[in-house]
Amino acid sequence: MKITFTDVAKAPITAFLVDQGGDLSAEAAELDKSVDGLLTAALANSRFKGKEGQQAFVVLPNSAEAKRAVLLGAGRKKDRDDRSLEKIGASLYKAQANSGYKGLDLYVADASEAARIALGVKLAAYRFDDYKTKLKDDQLPSLERLNIVTTDVKAARQAFKPLDAAGEGTYVARDLVNMPPNDLNPETYAAKIELLAELGLEIEILGEAELKKLGMNSMLGVGQGSVKESKLGIMKWNGGKAGDDPAILVGKGVCFDTGGISLKPGAGMEDMRGDMGGSAAVVGAMVALATRKAKANVVGLVGLVENMPDGDAIRPGDILTSASGQTIEVQNTDAEGRLVLCDVLWYAQEHFKPAAIVDLATLTGAIVVGLGHHHAGLFTNDDKLAEQLTKSGQAEGERVWRLPLGSEYDSLLNSKFADMRNIGGRAAGSITAAQFLKRFINDGVKWAHLDIAGVAWVEGEKSPIDPSWASGFGPRLLDRWVADNFEG
Ligand code: BES
Ligand code: MN
Ligand code: ZN
Repeated sequence: MKITFTDVAKAPITAFLVDQGGDLSAEAAELDKSVDGLLTAALANSRFKGKEGQQAFVVLPNSAEAKRAVLLGAGRKKDRDDRSLEKIGASLYKAQANSGYKGLDLYVADASEAARIALGVKLAAYRFDDYKTKLKDDQLPSLERLNIVTTDVKAARQAFKPLDAAGEGTYVARDLVNMPPNDLNPETYAAKIELLAELGLEIEILGEAELKKLGMNSMLGVGQGSVKESKLGIMKWNGGKAGDDPAILVGKGVCFDTGGISLKPGAGMEDMRGDMGGSAAVVGAMVALATRKAKANVVGLVGLVENMPDGDAIRPGDILTSASGQTIEVQNTDAEGRLVLCDVLWYAQEHFKPAAIVDLATLTGAIVVGLGHHHAGLFTNDDKLAEQLTKSGQAEGERVWRLPLGSEYDSLLNSKFADMRNIGGRAAGSITAAQFLKRFINDGVKWAHLDIAGVAWVEGEKSPIDPSWASGFGPRLLDRWVADNFEG
């Protein structure tokens, strides 16, 4: 989808915003006059009320320059916010994508509103067709270009730039999560990350020999049953002042989670292609930051492994020595995400001086039960960080909801044989998972964990802004968090 901003209309579809209960804009009224009142007639004779995203179409006579006019509901003025603007854009895209026309002009006077609507269109236009070989032309969208006609073109372009970058990040995260696990494994994933050097990111990939030297046996244990080599991906964006402590983003990158020897049931196991969603959020965020040249120092760390059952796989009962030196009794090989993250979190603290660490992981099924598909779970040792992430999530429509930590939960992880076990029992599964991670956070380090198992992908009925299986949750939230808290 090509998105532009100009001050003239020239596309076959011309769209106008109409407030709920409001009148035609000046531009719409002008067209209306030139086509004998066709637009006012459409208003009078249809159910169109100007509700958010609602649309009325008018076929224009040959005398008009455009072929089709669209009245696009903008909702009530008092309800207008970034979220509703994105939704309006997404609804417009969805309704016009298969119109048969390639280009669309939309009139939006205000520059920042124009940019938000454009982001809505961009997010709605995402597709993942790479593996469809038989799509006919009429199964593909005809719409290729959105042009927003606006008064201050420069201001609108300027406002769209960072949103466009964040949208790119979302696209990257969606692509990674949607990809099948035979094509996205730790090795191919690491190779993809290496290509991001092109954006000005400093990339380093560590393989099993190096991870072994670092003592990251917990993460290595998870990948032990896989024929693919486990990798740690390190992405640095040095856009801030030299010497400023970096914000650190950590992602769970389990490219496929069979459960290992504690094998998952077969039904729905294919969804575990998305178990690298936390890492995808981090990679997407790094792409967004680099694309918009963020003025902050940020490090992205992703632990890439595949959790397979195998003659050489870890067993329930095995005791792993993590990089921190703490020992872990594996009681369930399906609680593997925390085994990966604990070593990556250790790496973050050992090799950097984090201003704050945020990790993201599709960590527990329990968070899906608890919060469903509309909030990620937030766990943190720092109230201010909780506030920041909640606010950034709210601002970008990737919402998080804080859940508690506490020593009573922590003690559920005690093990008969080792320093801890990797499961806490039936109760409070998302909290005990977070407590497990907290055991690897040094005193004084600001840390937050986002359990995104319920939001990284959603099956079935979805909003137009989130059209594919993978939602691409994370990059927008993280990008906003960096922008609002680390860029002065
Ligand atoms: N990747 C899963 C969590 C998950 C479940 C993500 C459903 C998305 C949808 C994770 O590795 C896992 O298997 N967790 C177990 C932990 C349990 C064994 C303590 C779970 O949630 O059942
Ligand atoms: Mn698992
Ligand atoms: Zn998992």
